[in-house]
Amino acid sequence: MPRSLAVEGLSVRDFRNLESVEVDFGPRFNVVSGDNGQGKTNLLEAVYVLATSRSFRTSKLGELIAIGRTTASVRGRIREDHEEREQSVGLRRGLRAVRIDGKRPATLAAYAVRTPTAVFHPGALGLTNGAGSERRRLLDRVGLYLSAASLGDADTYAKAIRARQRVLEARGEAATDLDGWEELIVRHGLALSAARTAAAASLIPAAKRAFGRIGPAGTKLGLHYERSAPLTGDAFRAELRKNRIRDRARGSPGVGPHRDELALDLDSRPVRSMASQGQHRAVVLALKLAEIEVVAEACGVRPILLLDEVSSELDRARTAALFAALRDEPSQVLLTTTRPGLIDTGTLSGMDERRDFHVEDGRISRS
Ligand SMILES: Nc1ncnc2c1ncn2[C@@H]1O[C@H](COP(=O)(O)OP(=O)(O)OP(=O)(O)O)[C@@H](O)[C@H]1O
Ligand SMILES: [Mg+2]
Repeated sequence: MPRSLAVEGLSVRDFRNLESVEVDFGPRFNVVSGDNGQGKTNLLEAVYVLATSRSFRTSKLGELIAIGRTTASVRGRIREDHEEREQSVGLRRGLRAVRIDGKRPATLAAYAVRTPTAVFHPGALGLTNGAGSERRRLLDRVGLYLSAASLGDADTYAKAIRARQRVLEARGEAATDLDGWEELIVRHGLALSAARTAAAASLIPAAKRAFGRIGPAGTKLGLHYERSAPLTGDAFRAELRKNRIRDRARGSPGVGPHRDELALDLDSRPVRSMASQGQHRAVVLALKLAEIEVVAEACGVRPILLLDEVSSELDRARTAALFAALRDEPSQVLLTTTRPGLIDTGTLSGMDERRDFHVEDGRISRS
């Protein structure tokens, strides 16, 4: 049985519009309500930053610091079964300082996997109808929990791709330092492809099972990891070397994990171009439930679930399916809504503790 996991006390300083916020979340179901633009998503984002040191809506850490301030911080007491720890993330310009019980972890990746967190936010529909990058990110999130080193591979790979492009543009395809950048691309690209292969192997069967539970009866979800990197280092190296001129014009290599795809189909028809709205939503929800299941299994803890305005994203049937899944999986849930009356937790047996919070102009109170 996976261990329980919950963020309990949370303090936030100068994080977006949350100037000074203290919240005591309950171990199970927390409903955060408020009008538009008051700070609901900011609060979930603060929890996500506390758990992972990253945001789910921007890669620019500077955006998270309140306008007019130079630093922001999020601290929280995390309970894992019967043990408590204190985590904190401090932000200053583009930099972050993370601590667990006052100590600096060996790497950011080691920090990011301690408190598994899954988020469902309005951008999540991009998983099925948007660019391949959303689906690659899903594989990488799962891959991180299977092997924390993959985060470093993804970062170094992306850096090497950009550096190779800059060299090609500045000094052409005969520049001698291209070999070094291409070596990094090959090494970290193959490692990243291996991590995605492993992530897909866990995620795909879980997503099929989840879709079987929540999707329309008789419809089958198909998923295929389409790896773009050549299988061997030699073949990858040769491909990069041969295509320098073409790649310079394209702006990036024609092969490699940045071009991977997780192809989705319903009864053999591609989801992206042919699925209905309701089908899209069912597939997104199946992918999320699969992510949660795989991460829980890999880490031995139940991820904290951050659900941002899900009922406006999902239709009634899918919301009911989500709540049914929440009933079976007793994770801590932090849910935002503009309409708390529509969140019917009465049907959730075992949801003995529901706490309601209200957000107004960056201030949070129990309601
Ligand atoms: N760096 C920042 N400094 C100060 N305020 C910010 C910063 N970034 C965003 N905000 C403000 O935070 C406010 C609340 O944003 P948030 O996304 O949390 O609202 P919300 O309650 O989720 O609203 P909605 O229901 O519309 O999704 C916005 O008014 C925005 O202008
Ligand atoms: Mg919001």
